[in-house]
Amino acid sequence: MTGIDDILNRGERTNAHAHTTKLNGSPVQSENHSVTSGQQGPVILNDIHLIEKLAAFNRQVVPDRIPHAKGLGAFGELHITEDVSAYTKASLFQKGTVTPMAARFSTVAGESGSPDTWRDVHGFALRFWTQEGNYDIVGNNTPVFFMRDSVKFPDFIQSQKRHPATGLRSADMQWDFWTRTPESAHQVTYLMGGRGTPRSAREMNGYGSHTFQWINAEGEAFWVKYHFISEQGVHNLTQDEATKAAGETPDLHRQDLYEAIERGDFPRWSVEVQIMPLDEAETYRFNPFDLTKVWSKKDYPRKKIGYFELNRNPVNFHAQIEQIALDPSNLVPGVGFSPDKMLQGRIFAYSDQQRYRIGPNYRQLPINQPVNGDVNTYSQNGPMAYQFNENGSLPYSPNKTNKGAGVLDSGETSDHSAEHPVVDDAMVGNDQHGNQLYRGQYVQHAEDDNFIQATILYRDVMNDEEKEELANNIAGAMDGVKPETEQRCYEYWTNVHPDLGARVKEIFTSSK
Ligand code: HEM
Repeated sequence: MTGIDDILNRGERTNAHAHTTKLNGSPVQSENHSVTSGQQGPVILNDIHLIEKLAAFNRQVVPDRIPHAKGLGAFGELHITEDVSAYTKASLFQKGTVTPMAARFSTVAGESGSPDTWRDVHGFALRFWTQEGNYDIVGNNTPVFFMRDSVKFPDFIQSQKRHPATGLRSADMQWDFWTRTPESAHQVTYLMGGRGTPRSAREMNGYGSHTFQWINAEGEAFWVKYHFISEQGVHNLTQDEATKAAGETPDLHRQDLYEAIERGDFPRWSVEVQIMPLDEAETYRFNPFDLTKVWSKKDYPRKKIGYFELNRNPVNFHAQIEQIALDPSNLVPGVGFSPDKMLQGRIFAYSDQQRYRIGPNYRQLPINQPVNGDVNTYSQNGPMAYQFNENGSLPYSPNKTNKGAGVLDSGETSDHSAEHPVVDDAMVGNDQHGNQLYRGQYVQHAEDDNFIQATILYRDVMNDEEKEELANNIAGAMDGVKPETEQRCYEYWTNVHPDLGARVKEIFTSSK
């Protein structure tokens, strides 16, 4: 089974050459002297190594994450010690399972070089490489947020970042936004308290914050909230300490976590959940999907289900922390969404930013690849695509091999069937009323049938000359089809009209 070391070693160069190489693998003659025309120069354009080196230098950065640009991260394992199979069938949450994982901690508003101790909410984002695909929980060190609708999120972030005219952070913009957004009060109370200035990432708790869904093997759903409680205890800095650290050790949190792991002092977090039966959402005293609210621990006590430990530092910060693409839409069977309007905005936003920030094939990077076998997909090509499907695969669905059809269908849409089943799809989930969301066929009306209007067009609208031309064109366009596809074509056109099917067959077979 792929462990965290295998993941961290993917992509590492072996440096087998005794000398450096150009990017095409051929030897570099000198890292000290560029090629000149005569001893005094000038430098000439056919010094390929010089050009490559300067060009690579100019392209070292990828754009910052817009929120959460400054971060630090480490790797380790999640251990599940309790049986929660009554609530979720997710493989990573089954008792005894150990799952390789990443954690990235961050501040929200500062740029990638900003101090870790500027007062801010702190990101607490986790990636689990499960046997059913990557599962990410992208939360904060607070259990709530500033707003309850994602349409306000860009306004919020823009009020916390720099003023368009002055280029300065602006207390006026921040307070202008907060005081006009009264639902922010709960989160701003956390922010202005100790949690705005944690002493280290090791000493802060994390929260999934949103309400999520768990689904068990019987298909029963529950609402769930995640809590990650630091076993190092929670310790925060005073404002004076934080201000001093911002000047003296701006990378305090990055340095602290790195050094703790290097000396073998591995931080741990207890993994705990609150679980709410599905139907209690309707009547709970707070709206349980409102991200500005918590569920009281008295009403829904926290259950410990296991712990995680961070015990490996990144091998390469850029490849494994900058380019890790953590995303709340990375789900696995047994977990789902809730009707939280913030969460739904996030389902879109992360992969969208990652396509821009890292590139459209960011999921092919070693740090973003799942570990449960190669991705099996009809999506293909694009900038920097280096993975491709095995030779002989067809690039569309449905197809004759039926290979890779979705798990819930046969790979073929039904034709005459008037049925439109609701398929049992835990990934789609339930709405807040417990109704299962729908993945199935369009509602079919009395006369709906895939062929009927093509039949009318052929039978009632076309004259004999047009019918003959149509049959000829079809037979001509079939040139090169394999025998099985040929038979499917006859069936298809016979469904439109038996005369047409027969005529196409006649023309095609006589032309062979
Ligand atoms: C609709 C609201 C939100 C939107 C549109 C949004 C959008 C984003 C985007 C685009 C990124 C950068 C992703 C990347 O390029 O890798 C990001 C990062 C992040 N967001 Fe959000 N966000 C929202 C709300 C939240 C909330 C409510 C939380 C916490 C509960 C949160 C926690 C984080 C964290 C921790 C990161 C950094 C992930 C990492 O370490 O790579 N965000 N957000």
